[in-house]
Amino acid sequence: MKRVRIRVFRYNPAHDSSARYDEFEVEAERWTTVLDALLYIKAHRDHSIALRYSCRMASCGSCGMMINGIPRLACYTKVYELESDVITCRPLANFPIIRDLAADFGAFFAKHKSMKPYIINDSVDSIDGKEFIQKPEEVDKYLQFSYCIKCGLCYAACPTVATDKRFPGPQALAQMYRYLIDSRDAATDERLKVVDDRHGVWRCHFAGSCSMVCPKGVDPALGIQLLRAYLLGMNRGSKVVAELYSNKK
Ligand code: SF4
Ligand code: FES
Repeated sequence: MKRVRIRVFRYNPAHDSSARYDEFEVEAERWTTVLDALLYIKAHRDHSIALRYSCRMASCGSCGMMINGIPRLACYTKVYELESDVITCRPLANFPIIRDLAADFGAFFAKHKSMKPYIINDSVDSIDGKEFIQKPEEVDKYLQFSYCIKCGLCYAACPTVATDKRFPGPQALAQMYRYLIDSRDAATDERLKVVDDRHGVWRCHFAGSCSMVCPKGVDPALGIQLLRAYLLGMNRGSKVVAELYSNKK
């Protein structure tokens, strides 16, 4: 067991003119997670701390926060693995703050929804309850992207999201690829129109930080590159690339 100092970001935009950190000392066992420590503080020291969590098992995606400067799930980060006696918790970067550690996911989910994250196929109504059979290799094309739990860690890590509010972000673009490449989906052109934009798939600078922080092993940076390759390689043409090419002539 060891004693650690937890620094908790405190800010209520409705009342506070500036943010501050409140500090608490807690004892941590080898298995204590940052979420355990925060909930101990909330139960025994200061019940007014705002944070979001639910499953406590890296499944719901609601406990994301900046922990010692890196976007992580609080329930999936052990105090011991941080190898520091001081742990600083802030709300996720690139998200507006609701209060303290609770970030506002409104814009994030709006971008996710704009990708139409569901199978679109008019023939579904006419298959009379029959299954869409997919071969294993067809499932493999999108499987890793379907593990996304919408935790927003990749969005918080993305330097392009930080500088371009219109950029959908790695999560949304990877989900776009997930549905585009699904053999049951028939809305290819409709989907490509949404992301073939200067603020869309072409805006990514391929920093790769999104894939570094994903707690579920999703590689959103790969999804974005595959989306670009699809636009270029399938002879569907890219509006943005065509514009760039004509400007060079
Ligand atoms: S891709 Fe990974 S980091 Fe991004 S929202 Fe999905 S699970 Fe979270
Ligand atoms: S509480 Fe659900 S992912 Fe952490």
